[in-house]
Amino acid sequence: AFEIRLQHSGRTLQVPADMTIAQVLSAHGVDVELSCEQGVCGTCLTSLLDGEADHRDFFQTEEERAEHKQIAICCSRARSPLLTLDL
Ligand code: FES
Repeated sequence: AFEIRLQHSGRTLQVPADMTIAQVLSAHGVDVELSCEQGVCGTCLTSLLDGEADHRDFFQTEEERAEHKQIAICCSRARSPLLTLDL
């Protein structure tokens, strides 16, 4: 499990191993835009302000992944204990 921090509301939410970031956000009433939910389309890309993503999408390039500026919240997870999202 890891945590996500929502920069704008200051909320911190726990992401358990059996849920995606997008599922946790929806469960807490945060609107998320999803399409493929498989890391292919890029619809769910969200700006990552801090933390290191464990990228599971196939949309971003290697360079983009290495920058950790965006995360596909339908499938990607975290390598750091906390991800700060621009939400
Ligand atoms: Fe398509 Fe996340 S919804 S990449």
